[in-house]
Amino acid sequence: MEIQSVGVVGAGQMGNGIAHVMALAGYDVMMTDISADALDAAMKTITGNLDRQVSREKITADERNNALDRIASTTTLSDLGQCDLIIESATERETVKQAIFEDLLPHLTPETILTSNTSSISITRLASRTDRPEKFMGFHFMNPVPVMPLVELIRGIATDEPTFKACKAVVDKLGKTAATAEDFPAFIVNRILMPMINEAVYTLYEGVGNVESIDKAMKLGTNHPMGPLELADFIGLDTCLAIMNVLHDGLADTKYRPCPLLTKYVEAGWLGRKSQRGFYDYR
Ligand code: CAA
Repeated sequence: MEIQSVGVVGAGQMGNGIAHVMALAGYDVMMTDISADALDAAMKTITGNLDRQVSREKITADERNNALDRIASTTTLSDLGQCDLIIESATERETVKQAIFEDLLPHLTPETILTSNTSSISITRLASRTDRPEKFMGFHFMNPVPVMPLVELIRGIATDEPTFKACKAVVDKLGKTAATAEDFPAFIVNRILMPMINEAVYTLYEGVGNVESIDKAMKLGTNHPMGPLELADFIGLDTCLAIMNVLHDGLADTKYRPCPLLTKYVEAGWLGRKSQRGFYDYR
């Protein structure tokens, strides 16, 4: 099955990035969110990012205009009914994701492929609550979506080959590279990245270094583009904590215990860049 239209659920930093790259690659995009304000903000972000790509001569003005014309937005989930592919990109909470799929199912055609951009949650479990586990898989983008070349593709236990092939063809058309992961907690990228970020928070918590020295050490000592604490702020500390909890619960190993300081920051509402305060102050 060739995908032509894509429904993106959730217009946050991942969702608007996904809508951006899909539209630029020629797909018709229907983006939805429960909040009309979030949709307006997402359209502004997409327009700003496309404008920057034009000014840096990465794309032409025509490509920008065509991409914007291909994106529609709606607060009504049933408007995604005719989409060939759905990418759920809501907050990293299993109950929220399940509720979205439950609400969507009655409106979909039998052929529609369902995917989740989850960073860590079991694809097999999400799929099992739908009427089409064989047409369900993980489609995991990296942040910032327009820049990062990787998409992790995760097969649930029941995912069939035509579904995998259709999703892989989309990744190819986006000009991105797919890495295939089996369905275990946090897959590949976050299984490796999040314990490193969590360890950086422990390093801060135990006073081994301060925020600046930890980030400087990892940037200049290991050539990472961002230090781990800066990266945690960029991803969102709530997302980092949610992923550590999935690793801790799913693998039952104390090495994945979330650092109490990470928990405390999230409890304080210090979620990183999106709340203007995390390990750094963005106010
Ligand atoms: N949206 C769109 N484009 C963006 C952007 C954003 N938020 N931020 C930066 N860019 C673009 C810039 O326009 C620029 O484009 P050109 O090369 O075309 O000029 C390019 O990215 C580089 O940006 P800058 O020169 O401003 O800054 P930089 O060189 O410091 O790069 C960065 C910024 C690409 C974000 C870089 O710091 C980086 O790679 N950081 C690490 C990001 C990372 O690890 N992401 C994965 C997180 S894990 C994840 O996402 C998985 C998960 O589930 C949690």
